[in-house]
Amino acid sequence: MDRIRVTGGRRLKGEIPISGAKNAALPLMAAALLSEGALTLSNVPNLADVVYMADVLRQLGVAVAWQMSGSDHVGGVLKLQSPRRSQSLATYDAVRKMRASFLVLGPLVARNREAMVSLPGGCAIGARPVDLHLKGLEAMGAEIELTGGYVFARAPNGLKGAAYEFPTVSVGATENLLMAASLAHGESVLKNAAREPEIGDLARCLVTMGAKISGIDSSTLVVEGVKELHGGQHAVLPDRIETGTYAIAAAISGGEIELTNTSLPLIGALVPLLRNAGAEIDSTAFGVTVVRNGHSMRATDATTEPFPGFPTDLQAQYMALMATADGESHIRETIFENRFMHVPELLRMGAEIRVEGDTAIVTGARKLKGAPVMATDLRASVSLVLAGLAAEGETVVNRVYHLDRGFERIEQKLKACGADIERLKE
Ligand code: EPZ
Repeated sequence: MDRIRVTGGRRLKGEIPISGAKNAALPLMAAALLSEGALTLSNVPNLADVVYMADVLRQLGVAVAWQMSGSDHVGGVLKLQSPRRSQSLATYDAVRKMRASFLVLGPLVARNREAMVSLPGGCAIGARPVDLHLKGLEAMGAEIELTGGYVFARAPNGLKGAAYEFPTVSVGATENLLMAASLAHGESVLKNAAREPEIGDLARCLVTMGAKISGIDSSTLVVEGVKELHGGQHAVLPDRIETGTYAIAAAISGGEIELTNTSLPLIGALVPLLRNAGAEIDSTAFGVTVVRNGHSMRATDATTEPFPGFPTDLQAQYMALMATADGESHIRETIFENRFMHVPELLRMGAEIRVEGDTAIVTGARKLKGAPVMATDLRASVSLVLAGLAAEGETVVNRVYHLDRGFERIEQKLKACGADIERLKE
């Protein structure tokens, strides 16, 4: 298993091109199941999760043609062509490997009128139930049965448009229902919908495929179902979590980085936190610059919330930064119940953090020391790379496959800015 070695203490300076968003690319790929027409996606990041999703789609009968770009600045192009009638079964192996595979449920039941999709089960960051996906589909007239770890969903006469209010905000359930509603008979009104930019990106792609959606980017999505969708072309939006991660890399290393092919509003909730902590962060013609010159950072509290709030997917990275800042900060996690797995690893690097319920209390101004570390999820793993950039000595991050799920060419991107980082192949 590959590992990443980082020797800390280098000030980062340079430019990092931001890739297309993993969490936009995955639902966009599932949308290919909604139409027989070819869906061509560009700016697709070359990540393990994209490869898993391509495998799931192939199993369902979709032809996948993948053309990687040779350039650092433009992602790959993925052409997806669904057959007249795809398979309806997404297996346990497919969904267990990557929860986002569950996003094929809405498109399959909408177009094939039946689907068998494995329940994803819990994962390292929490229980992550899918009840809202299922209740929403039931509201659209699907009959749902749970047997042998699988969801069997049937709508023999097609799905019917429905009004559904999400009791809590869910990114995945909003995406599943939005895709299903696009092919339902009549109007659907999805209230308390998630407003993450990846949902707006999916909605815009569906519109280019012929869907009728209004309220895009708001918490009420109104979908007038159409009989069929056609193919289309769509460029995946920039990855806001990658943008935020490298913004924190500039801050934690006392560096100066320009993030290109992205924009400041995508990390709107992180900007005031970084400014308050002492970094300068501004829009440029090409993206965003983040600068921290010399002085130390100040502790600043943060609470994770659905978009436009501070994202749970940046919580671990932000905690690494706060471990090095002056003063005490409180970091509250409200989205997932078990998303502090990076804490014991940061402690091994000399951080001082205690967890009380849903809040981590970080006593900063600690000089971190390099150590061998490992984490059990993607964002936790990258927080250890960031801590390694600031630490004295060598940090070796094990289980790099987590990073490969969500950060394209991370070691090359950091190295280009002067980081002392390399992948140790095994
Ligand atoms: C998406 O997960 C992202 N994944 C996650 O990114 C991200 O952390 C999360 O949204 C929150 O922003 C993808 O987009 C592929 P949710 P998702 O449904 O859709 C509860 C990463 O590192 N809930 O918004 O699974 C749930 O348990 C990943 O890239 C229900 O109770 O998240 C959680 O507490 C990790 N019932 C909360 O809602 C449901 O039916 C939010 O989950 C669905 C969710």
